[in-house]
Amino acid sequence: MEIIHVSAECYPVAKAGGLGDVVGALPKYQTDAGHVSKVVMPMYRTKFLLNNDWDVVHKGYTNLGAYWFPYTIIKERTNKLGFDLYLVDIYGLLDRERIYGYDDDSQRFTAFQIAVVDWISSWKHHPDILHVHDYHAGLIPFMVKYCYRYQHLQNIPTVLTIHNAQYQGWMGWDKSTFIPAWDPWKRGMLDWKEAINPLASGVKCAWIVTTVSNSYLDELRQSANGLEALFQFEKGKCYGILNGIDALVWDPASDKYIDNHYSVKNFREGKKRNKKILCETFDLDESKPLIVFIGRLVGEKGADILAAAIGDSYFYIGRLMNFLVLGSGFPEIESELESLKTLSQGDYNFYSGYNESLSHLMYAGADFILMPSRVEPCGLNQMYAMRYGTVPMVRNTGGLRDTVIDFGDERGYGIRFNHAIIGDVTQAVWRAVDLFGNELKLESIRSQIMQLDFSWESSVKQYLDLYKTLT
Ligand code: ADP
Ligand code: GLC
Repeated sequence: MEIIHVSAECYPVAKAGGLGDVVGALPKYQTDAGHVSKVVMPMYRTKFLLNNDWDVVHKGYTNLGAYWFPYTIIKERTNKLGFDLYLVDIYGLLDRERIYGYDDDSQRFTAFQIAVVDWISSWKHHPDILHVHDYHAGLIPFMVKYCYRYQHLQNIPTVLTIHNAQYQGWMGWDKSTFIPAWDPWKRGMLDWKEAINPLASGVKCAWIVTTVSNSYLDELRQSANGLEALFQFEKGKCYGILNGIDALVWDPASDKYIDNHYSVKNFREGKKRNKKILCETFDLDESKPLIVFIGRLVGEKGADILAAAIGDSYFYIGRLMNFLVLGSGFPEIESELESLKTLSQGDYNFYSGYNESLSHLMYAGADFILMPSRVEPCGLNQMYAMRYGTVPMVRNTGGLRDTVIDFGDERGYGIRFNHAIIGDVTQAVWRAVDLFGNELKLESIRSQIMQLDFSWESSVKQYLDLYKTLT
């Protein structure tokens, strides 16, 4: 099968979170399974672009409403990622350093999708599957079905994977002219509550919709940032497929970002050495348990209660643990976490920003990873952490529920709590401190989690089985 993934992110080209990791890995494992899997994404001005060699494979000219623009498709020359990688260059719209966060994101991503469909429409053959990810590619199923000039593509099966339904890409109806002339009877296929909603449109028009865990799919019917009724209505074509992790990138025995490698055979020493580096770098106390948070500092991740929960833990439990936070996001949350540094007694630190190599060292050197997420469609951090022998402390939601069993339950290995509230987090911290004191138990949990299988193989098979029902 020839599968075309369309996405705003793909690791290591450009990554803001888990979407990048997934799109950087899934096609590789689909290729390993004997298929032709390709990725098309915007050509941002990232390091990866500058450090690699490219061939121009197509030049086109298309329009975003009245604005006509040239676009170029380039392909990475050496198959470095293990699959064909194509970038779409649109001068003035995609040639930026960051992925998101610009005022004209609607124009940027709509133009990107038009260029992708335009390019595919120039091919002599049709791919077997168009697999689009999140709202940034959510208009494609509509375009291939209902835009007059792409009518010949309408039989290509489309699959939409929802990594995060909080972000839907809403646009006012004044922007409807951006989309190449379409059948006006199909207005309802773009609309949700009087706005163009690219994610809702994707759910309506894609042949199949997947979410990145089963529990998240269940939750979307109750809570989907306004799309609940749509997920109830479209229940029949929605499937939950848990993400895997790229075991080649995330392996404590060979991780290129850490110096002290280890495996399940010698994790005691290995983790200790990594923890030492972390504690020396961030002025923390090696003898105490190290609890880390890595992620976007937004309400979705429960980051707004983090500073208060850390403060309360010190107050109610005592200064028995270290906290180290890595992340960037809302300025108010960043400044709360920054201020907390003044209260540190060599047991708290905060690194503000995005730092790939530090995140790897933290997975390796930490004892526990805290994820008080309000919404977590899958969550990769807890799976990475477990591969590195770091015990997850997670809220009972979405993919966290599907991947972490509380150590109080049969065959359990993590710490789970029910609410994203300060009290629940503090109690989880208390349980972590207690577990840290029980060396035998902690070591058996570490050895157990390092051996859990979160590899891509089974998810790849589930995707392929779904594709087969369409082709
Ligand atoms: P999400 O995609 O919602 O942000 P995931 O758990 O799926 O959450 O994936 C987050 C990914 O982004 C992980 O690879 C994590 O290590 C990484 N990450 C998040 N914030 C940072 C940061 N500040 N620095 C480095 N890596 C980060
Ligand atoms: C999203 C979700 C996260 C998931 C990731 C990859 O960003 O927030 O939970 O792991 O996508 O699917």
